[in-house]
Amino acid sequence: MKSEFKGTSNKGRFISFEGGEGAGKSTQVRLLSDRLGALGYQTLLTREPGGSPLGEKIRRFLLEGKVKGHGPIAEALLFYTARQDHLDSLILPNLEKGVWVLCDRFADSSRAYQGAASGVDDGIFDALDRIVVRDNQPELTIIIDLPVDVGQKRVAARQNQDGIETDRFEAEDLHFHERLRAGFLKIAAANSNRCIIIDGNQSRDMVAKMIWHTVVERFALDAVV
Ligand code: TYD
Repeated sequence: MKSEFKGTSNKGRFISFEGGEGAGKSTQVRLLSDRLGALGYQTLLTREPGGSPLGEKIRRFLLEGKVKGHGPIAEALLFYTARQDHLDSLILPNLEKGVWVLCDRFADSSRAYQGAASGVDDGIFDALDRIVVRDNQPELTIIIDLPVDVGQKRVAARQNQDGIETDRFEAEDLHFHERLRAGFLKIAAANSNRCIIIDGNQSRDMVAKMIWHTVVERFALDAVV
């Protein structure tokens, strides 16, 4: 696996983070960015939906639940509209410059949230990926897996602490979140070269350590694990 990646180009690496609610992705994206930065790599930390000006507008629209009544296909189309802008205006130019792009959610979230959890057919995502993502899937996708009840407790605790309101998807019921979790696991199984599952039900430091180990191995970095 190591030699496959070593010295293949001067382009940056594209890594996405995925998982259900409360998995701790945002914290782990930051920790990975810090560790790569300490080794001298330039990183860009971004997120979906969002990341670009149009993407952030679409994000508000979707997370406030304004599209919910139009059904999951309409939501999926908007997530992909935001994704196209994000790729073209931010992700691809940065990869070209040699920057490592660390993205908090990407196309797998559409397949899991609008697909597995909301019933949109996989074939629709195959088509949207062909049109929008093309050959720009991340090289590595870290899926942080967590039992649904643990994730929900974490989200509730965060909301109490920060006074944040529940968004469109957090508000879905337990069955939705169970389908979501199964959806991510199915994506991981179908894309085992790209995806790695990390057990999120352990300490923040242990999760970070496992992610770092994966990144060092995958990209043959000259670093201590
Ligand atoms: P965010 O606050 O970033 O959630 P989290 O902290 O859980 O990542 O909100 C993004 C929400 O949008 C999240 O509930 C997942 C959902 N989503 C989709 O439903 N489809 C998508 O394609 C993407 C990128 C996100």
